[in-house]
Amino acid sequence: MTTVDLPLLPLGRGSDPASERGVECPGDLPSASDPDLVERARAAKAALGDRVFVLGHHYQRDEVIQFADVTGDSFKLARDAAARPAAEYIVFCGVHFMAESADILTGPEQKVILPDLAAGCSMADMARIAQVEAAWDAMAAAGVQDSVVPVTYMNSSADIKAFCGRNGGVVCTSSNAEVALEWAFQQKPDAKVLFLPDQHLGRNTAVLKLGYSLDDCVVWNPLQPNGGLTAEQLRDAKVILWRGHCSVHGRFSPDVVDELRERIPGINILVHPECQHEVVLKADLVGSTEFIIKTIEAAPAGSAWAIGTELNLVKRLATEHPDKRIVFLDKNVCYCSTMNRIDLPHFVWAMESLVEGVVVNQITVDPDTERDALVALQRMLDLPGKSHRD
Ligand code: 13P
Ligand code: SF4
Repeated sequence: MTTVDLPLLPLGRGSDPASERGVECPGDLPSASDPDLVERARAAKAALGDRVFVLGHHYQRDEVIQFADVTGDSFKLARDAAARPAAEYIVFCGVHFMAESADILTGPEQKVILPDLAAGCSMADMARIAQVEAAWDAMAAAGVQDSVVPVTYMNSSADIKAFCGRNGGVVCTSSNAEVALEWAFQQKPDAKVLFLPDQHLGRNTAVLKLGYSLDDCVVWNPLQPNGGLTAEQLRDAKVILWRGHCSVHGRFSPDVVDELRERIPGINILVHPECQHEVVLKADLVGSTEFIIKTIEAAPAGSAWAIGTELNLVKRLATEHPDKRIVFLDKNVCYCSTMNRIDLPHFVWAMESLVEGVVVNQITVDPDTERDALVALQRMLDLPGKSHRD
């Protein structure tokens, strides 16, 4: 029997960068009630043929993911975008930072399109380049900057990736954070890592994969002078975690893990590493969205799973695996509101515009930022063999 325990209230909304960035959707969006939307999307895709390549992140709605040429986690999609030099248009069904990375990794003549510019990421918005530059200066003043290697999660803006490229650092994703941190610690004697912007992925990887202690980690709060840390704390730390988090994954709590283990004996707890450390400690398995999918595919019929990641993916897994019991690791509905901005009307609008020769919502990264960000992204793609742990 398939079970997804769902309440009715739409909680867990991320910040909505649409109003912050003043983003409006230009032109005429088809109505969501248009019964021909699926047919229109099909027709536009057929008309564009090989000129378009559609990428879909696993958190996208079913109505959109059905049109993706490939689906994946952010690491796989970055590689897939880079491997399609012949496609004139890359339509990215995901969020802004992913589309920026695709633009950096694709050729200059290729155009990357994000069907709704309001599809941002609240976590990526928690680290601004001016704040990161200020933190870097404060680390110089504290006498530690020379030993710090910056590592940024893919979920960050292109200018922060460029900062890492300029300063001997690397990009990582939830698939390769362990190998990226290992790499970073090898770059300098007595290296420290500045991990941006997700404190949870940084802490979970440093402590649970690399064996550092919680005391080796400090949290840099960009809203406080000197990050709220003394020079001594900075000197003693091995990992400086940026105070950012995912508003969706941050909702999962250790109490629910205990309740589910009591209610469903033998249940396996499978979570994304953006969850809080206390949740990951109680989980049986932790990994990226791609890892979560492969784990469920390989699980025996009759097994029971509670999954701590975005709800579109959990619901899809429950539908695709009716022989397994799959429940959501939260009492409340918990979609990523910005991932959900890409809906069928926006997709149809973007695709039909391309058919008419009009490129809408193109994501472009300026050449200087692109050059430096590419250095950090390329270092990630060049990480040794274990770099994609699916
Ligand atoms: P993945 O790296 O697993 O694709 O996750 C990206 C993301 O946005 C998770 O919140
Ligand atoms: Fe950002 Fe969290 Fe949404 Fe992922 S799930 S895109 S980290 S807000």
